[in-house]
Amino acid sequence: MKTLTVRLGRRTYPIHVGTDLLADADLLTPHIDGRQVMVISNNTVGPMYLDKLHRGLQRFDVFTHMIPDGESYKNLDVLEDVFDRMLEIPCSRQCTVIALGGGVVGDIAGFAAACYQRGIPFIQAPTTLLAQVDSSVGGKTAVNHRLGKNMIGALYQPRAVIADTATLETLPDNEFSAGLAEVIKYGLIRDPEFFVWLESNIDALRRRDHEALTHAIERSCRNKAEIVAMDEHETDIRALLNLGHTFGHAIEAATQYKSWLHGEAVAVGMLMAADLSRRLGDLQERDVERIKDLLQRTGLPTHPPKEMTPDTFERYMAVDKKVVDGRVRLVLLKRPGRAYVGDEYGFKALRDTLAAFQMAV
Ligand code: NAD
Ligand code: GLY
Repeated sequence: MKTLTVRLGRRTYPIHVGTDLLADADLLTPHIDGRQVMVISNNTVGPMYLDKLHRGLQRFDVFTHMIPDGESYKNLDVLEDVFDRMLEIPCSRQCTVIALGGGVVGDIAGFAAACYQRGIPFIQAPTTLLAQVDSSVGGKTAVNHRLGKNMIGALYQPRAVIADTATLETLPDNEFSAGLAEVIKYGLIRDPEFFVWLESNIDALRRRDHEALTHAIERSCRNKAEIVAMDEHETDIRALLNLGHTFGHAIEAATQYKSWLHGEAVAVGMLMAADLSRRLGDLQERDVERIKDLLQRTGLPTHPPKEMTPDTFERYMAVDKKVVDGRVRLVLLKRPGRAYVGDEYGFKALRDTLAAFQMAV
């Protein structure tokens, strides 16, 4: 097992990465204050991993609440069901919430913990690769609103993250590749050595080779932990984590969050950001090709769907959360491993990138 630390003063917390950690009472117990534990999961993950988690919680009064599976259920109605259940039990202020699942479960359970009686202890037990390398770390919690994704939420840090890599064995291939997109993101934004390592080890990762996977998760979490420690509130460097996300969110929104996984859309978005960076004279053509090659070898898409015209992109990009004073701020690359946030890329260069990706379909 590897243990990393997210350094946030009194709210500092560990991230444990390793095999078969879910049933390890020694990892869970120090972060549980009272007798009550409320496990929130969904009807896909719960039947697979709840028993394992319960083995490490035998000393506690454990309650469970299952939410339906899917992004469309990350909403205020499902959150209200969680509160109904917690109040009916009733859960006390010492009750600890454990999120067992992917990013949807983690985001909704984290937001429930942030709000219930103005905040109760919370542990993340992520079971998708995306959740293990990204959404469980850093404290962003939210539900979607009909007018926008993740628009209602709170920044609320967990007390611990327990990333049990054994759970990834049951993850469908497309979900696994989508998680790898976020892994590649860390290499691109600030870890050039990791990017080169990924180029050499992507086949082992796709085979879910245990050693390669543990290294990739640990290195990704280390990058995220460092960023969050420096800029918890995203006033500066944390924004780099949005590489590819503005283009990607446009794809997800235009396809009604149904046919594209988040990581797939981010993969295309990262390549579009790379293309724009090349047009601005920063990134070399051969580096754009390296990024494209790595994404393809990961089994990720490198073209948006054909309904994404430049106008469609611009319409959806204009309502992204990253718009500041009417200008869309984009994460761009100087080279693989060095990203920056800018809004001075020029309308023409952006339009050329959007047109190039439309023609490429
Ligand atoms: P998800 O939670 O929908 O999980 C994907 C699918 O895999 C689901 O059907 C789930 O039930 C299933 N699943 C989960 N673990 C499994 C396992 N071990 N075996 C088999 N199936 C399993 O999706 P996700 O990609 O994990 O998360 C996406 C969500 O995360 C989005 O809502 C996004 O907004 C959010 N997110 C949040 C942050 C953050 O910082 N809070 C960052 C990135 C993404
Ligand atoms: N997923 C982006 C962040 O946590 O800031």
